[in-house]
Amino acid sequence: MERILTGIQSTGVPHLGNLLGAILPAIKKSHENTNAFLFIADLHSITQIKNPEILKKNSLSTASAWLAFGLNPNNVCFYRQSDVPQVTELAWYLSCFFPFSRLSLAHSFKDKSSRFIDVNAGLFSYPMLMAADILLYDADVIPVGKDQLQHIEIARDVASRVHTKYGEVFKLPRASLNSQTNYILGTDGTKMSKSNNNTIDIFCDESDLYKQIMSISTSSTSLNDPKNPEDCTVFHLYSLISDKKEINDLKNQYLSGGYGYGDAKKLLFNKILKKFENERRKYNEFNQNPDKVESILLKGAKKASQVGDEVLNRFRKKLGFN
Ligand code: ADP
Ligand code: TRP
Repeated sequence: MERILTGIQSTGVPHLGNLLGAILPAIKKSHENTNAFLFIADLHSITQIKNPEILKKNSLSTASAWLAFGLNPNNVCFYRQSDVPQVTELAWYLSCFFPFSRLSLAHSFKDKSSRFIDVNAGLFSYPMLMAADILLYDADVIPVGKDQLQHIEIARDVASRVHTKYGEVFKLPRASLNSQTNYILGTDGTKMSKSNNNTIDIFCDESDLYKQIMSISTSSTSLNDPKNPEDCTVFHLYSLISDKKEINDLKNQYLSGGYGYGDAKKLLFNKILKKFENERRKYNEFNQNPDKVESILLKGAKKASQVGDEVLNRFRKKLGFN
């Protein structure tokens, strides 16, 4: 069975956009492939996050969210990147095979270095660590968003450069583009993103969730007038988590008039609470029980480490270390 592998950056508590765009589709896939590796990319996060408490908290909340939504750690090798230090050793070797000039052309570095204040060397060599994440585990398929395609190309490229010198060492991975048909809108009607400050945080407490939902921007159509469901963010979000009949009922309410956005927002709020009731409870249980999450991640790291050692030794021998 092909090995699927992907990393998730732990930049905070996952929101509704992360859930519908990334977490749920990946969990669905993991039910079909029991040879999947999924890890929390905390070594990548330190390119940006320099606060140990926040770094730890983010890993815990990211892991708790995935577990709450049904990731089964018996099926998936679920681990934290920093628990398998072999990856940093491999990243170093790989960076000695990849031209500086190519790395300086990476779009993601160009983009981040134009926006961030802390433009460190880790940010620059980010694609080498990502190549190591993939090559260390003999991964075949890497599901990623479009923005990460160049990183997978770099992983293939650096592996091929090693092969030209030493013969075959690594499996050449291929990207599988997440069919991100889902482009979830945030409270201001633009793409939901932590950096846009427009998220719906499905795991936060009820009163904060209520405030976020009430703050969704809507048109100024008056209560009595019919409303267009197609250009309404409240309707958009409701339809992503509801069944056909519920969607149709809300559509009819919009079209017939006499139904306010406030009513639709309350409906959305109650829908989120009801739909994610179990997951919200489980998330809190995991989040308040860091030892349990820790033991799941360490068990995953043990397995990942075994695979990693094997591949790393294969390469060390070729390099002349050992
Ligand atoms: P953010 O933009 O909030 O920082 P990330 O970049 O950490 O989110 O995204 C993590 C994952 O969630 C990625 O796979 C990304 O494609 C997905 N994702 C994030 N926001 C959305 C959205 N609004 N709609 C669909 N998917 C999203
Ligand atoms: N860079 C990826 C992102 O920002 C996260 C990541 C790190 C990753 N290592 C990886 C994804 C290896 C796939 C494979 O989303």
